[in-house]
Amino acid sequence: MLTSENERESTVFDLDEKYMIQCLPKRDHIAISKAQGTKIIDSQGKEYLDLFSGISVTNVGHCHPKVVAAIKNQIELYMHISNHYYNNAMATLAKQLVTVAPQSLSKVFFVNSGAEAVDGAVKLAKKYATVNGRKGNTLVSLESSFHGRLSLTLTLTGQKNFKYKFDNYATYPGIVHAPTPYYYRDGGDLPEDEFGKKCAEDLAHLLDNYAPGDIATVIIEPILGEAGIIVPPDSYLPAVQKICKEREITFIADEVQTGIARTGKMFACEHWSIKPDIMTLAKALGGGLPIGAFLASEDVAAAFVEGDHFSTFGGNPVCCAAASAVLDVVKEERLAERAENTGAYLMKRLGEMSEKRELVGEVRGKGLMVGLELVRNRRSKEPATGETSKIKQGLIKDGFLIGVGGPNKNVLRIQPPLVISKAEVDSAVDALDRLLGSYATLEQ
Ligand SMILES: Cc1ncc(COP(=O)(O)O)c(C=O)c1O
Repeated sequence: MLTSENERESTVFDLDEKYMIQCLPKRDHIAISKAQGTKIIDSQGKEYLDLFSGISVTNVGHCHPKVVAAIKNQIELYMHISNHYYNNAMATLAKQLVTVAPQSLSKVFFVNSGAEAVDGAVKLAKKYATVNGRKGNTLVSLESSFHGRLSLTLTLTGQKNFKYKFDNYATYPGIVHAPTPYYYRDGGDLPEDEFGKKCAEDLAHLLDNYAPGDIATVIIEPILGEAGIIVPPDSYLPAVQKICKEREITFIADEVQTGIARTGKMFACEHWSIKPDIMTLAKALGGGLPIGAFLASEDVAAAFVEGDHFSTFGGNPVCCAAASAVLDVVKEERLAERAENTGAYLMKRLGEMSEKRELVGEVRGKGLMVGLELVRNRRSKEPATGETSKIKQGLIKDGFLIGVGGPNKNVLRIQPPLVISKAEVDSAVDALDRLLGSYATLEQ
């Protein structure tokens, strides 16, 4: 009894430190007690405007009433039946997803997270290569990419800082990385479209260094999220798709972060009319419940036969019911359109602000997936890592929760619930402007 009495007196921070393996990235000292729509309330009763959506998860807003109702309804019926039986919530969600997915995709498999979606997608791509008489030994991803924290997905992840001291856990065999189409840092004197084509040509060159049939798949985030919201030049993805097709290499679009209306389209691929062979989803799909998926074309999906893949919890009926409600809400509330409009307004306000705030190197993004890269000097582009962290802390003090990304942790990530209002955008930009104003300001 004494132990539980003591524990009751401990704060969440004490309990966490004592009992959790301390391996999460450094957290902000905030314990959440409630979240609704765009607002989060902490255990002290302080209210925050959420500008990060739990890492791009709560696209429909926290605890959307329709999602909550769907969850409650399913919980009353059954919560788990195992994938040895049929599950109506899962089949219904599969149909809904195929209805909104890029035309090329007609089959779905459900998992529990983004990393599992990527892992399953790659497994399918490899099987597709081998059943078609190719070796499919090698996988290609991008240098700055992020695809998850499990062995294969951590190896696919291009950023080295996630792999420090993980040795062969993070060196799954046969994975190579192609250059990232990061125009702001690597574009040099080239016009943006030329740079996009050059990056695609570099990828082609890499693919052609391997024997025909050796490469199973190319996996790319249409907009790189963890890398600091890197939007490729318009020429890039169409060229990559063509290069893959010509070489009979499948193309996986990792839409774990960009999917479900985040970028102003249901899926980011649509900005460039890309038709991937496989697409991965997770994050926003469940509106806050853990669910991921990979979708594939009829042809590619047929490579998986009975018994090839399984997940105990994948397609959990409660998560599927939540995801069905999310897709309904996205449609009913026209959230893709809303993300596009509010995102354009946010970009305009940030663009105006950046004209006088020297620390802002670049504002970039699509829809409500927006990055603000902060640099100490606009010419040298030295990353303003410390300043970015201070601005984030300043925003927390002022009641705003924001993300930070990029290998140098110098990109502020604004990825709010898509239901955010323009007045809320104004309050966030004003707060950001005030904080940036405490650093050097450009002469007017
Ligand atoms: C593009 C992308 N793929 C995969 C993942 C991994 O997802 P999860 O954390 O659900 O495993 C992430 C997570 O940030 C992501 O952004």
